[in-house]
Amino acid sequence: MTSKMDAFWMPFTANREYKQSPRLLAKAQGMHYWTPDGRELLDATAGLWCVNAGHARPRIVQAIAHQAAEMDFAPPFQIGHPLAFSLAERLVKLTPEGLNKVFFTNSGSESVDTALKIAIAYHRMRGEAQRTRLIGRERGYHGVNFGGTALGGLGPNRKLFGSHVAGVDHLRHTHDLSRNAFTKGQPEHGVELADDLERLVTLHDASTIAAVIVEPMAGSTGVLLPPKGYLQRLRDICDKHGILLIFDEVITGFGRLGSPFAAQHYGVTPDLLTAAKGITNGCIPMGAVFVKQGIHDAFMQGPPGAIELPHGYTYSAHPMACAAAHATLDTYEDEGLLTRATQGGPLQTKFETALHSLEGLPHVVDIRNTGLVAAIEFAPRAGAAPGRRAFDVFLGCWDEGVLVRSAGDNIAISPPLIIDEGQIDQIVSTLAKVIKRID
Ligand SMILES: Cc1ncc(COP(=O)(O)O)c(C=O)c1O
Repeated sequence: MTSKMDAFWMPFTANREYKQSPRLLAKAQGMHYWTPDGRELLDATAGLWCVNAGHARPRIVQAIAHQAAEMDFAPPFQIGHPLAFSLAERLVKLTPEGLNKVFFTNSGSESVDTALKIAIAYHRMRGEAQRTRLIGRERGYHGVNFGGTALGGLGPNRKLFGSHVAGVDHLRHTHDLSRNAFTKGQPEHGVELADDLERLVTLHDASTIAAVIVEPMAGSTGVLLPPKGYLQRLRDICDKHGILLIFDEVITGFGRLGSPFAAQHYGVTPDLLTAAKGITNGCIPMGAVFVKQGIHDAFMQGPPGAIELPHGYTYSAHPMACAAAHATLDTYEDEGLLTRATQGGPLQTKFETALHSLEGLPHVVDIRNTGLVAAIEFAPRAGAAPGRRAFDVFLGCWDEGVLVRSAGDNIAISPPLIIDEGQIDQIVSTLAKVIKRID
């Protein structure tokens, strides 16, 4: 380990192993990264599911530079600035019908905890203060703040941190290799897994449950697509019992599935929707919670001078983030990026066919995909820690000049939405080469 690397305690990183053999990035442009010694890497991960328009887009760069000089910061409580209002108006035009209020945060984790607080407070405002229970799902990822940690469904992310938030339960996850392996698009089997919510309603009673939060497509835990009919059935059960449905669209928002949001792609509208990442093309931290009018309106009571929602961040609707988001939306619009990955379109078909050509390679037990996102799942290596084989694929691809992401036993692919067909071929041929040589 070099002593210059001592001080930085890296997030979600095997710090000791990493510092023995560091991987560094120094520059990014379009579809590529470069290491400090000038080696080029094709970005097959859109950074971390966020750089949807590709890197260092001039319009976004200029907007940030301009805003930094014009007004670097404005206090967000009881004072506003025009870019925040105009951005909110633009964003709610992209969201599913009815989600027409937006609360700004600075990350996906903050969006999740904000949405959970709004859900609980909403029931209280309506005189149902006993509705405080929150339901997540196994293999869900909702960031790392206390609410998101509690609602998340990955044991390793939870076990160090005590009982975090009381009154939480989890639905079963929907991943079923025995019935759905190598499915292109939505799996056929598993709609009945939504009925697990009825089980939890029977157990806890609906009158205690505030909200259910799911990723419409679980990204971080390995690109788990919802079985056909599953999301609609969750919606129906929530409606039947007066439970709010929250979609965590931190990854699926802003075009990843070929629609602005997964809610539109799957035709199911949640009551609240969390977003971040692609909202600014990843270049300035920003998040958002979209809320149905009726939920917002429940707070608009009491004296007009009262603060209706005692919640917010110093950097909510930060001017630089708002400027970056405006320029990002301009770029998405001008280049049609939010619908470029449309299911069945030429790019999506190419992506799907290319990725599924890896079926049959050693240790590959599943390939699944939708829009411009896919996962290749590997059998875990006998006697090794889970995920080691996928991690070796990640390392191999790094050496071969392609940045992919390992997530447990999966390699996830989620390139910037500007990718071309030749670059898809490069990703897939590199994966094939690496998969064939690892044990
Ligand atoms: C679905 C989902 N929710 C929340 C988060 C947390 O976002 P952040 O890392 O910006 O806090 C992520 C991050 O990947 C995510 O995928």
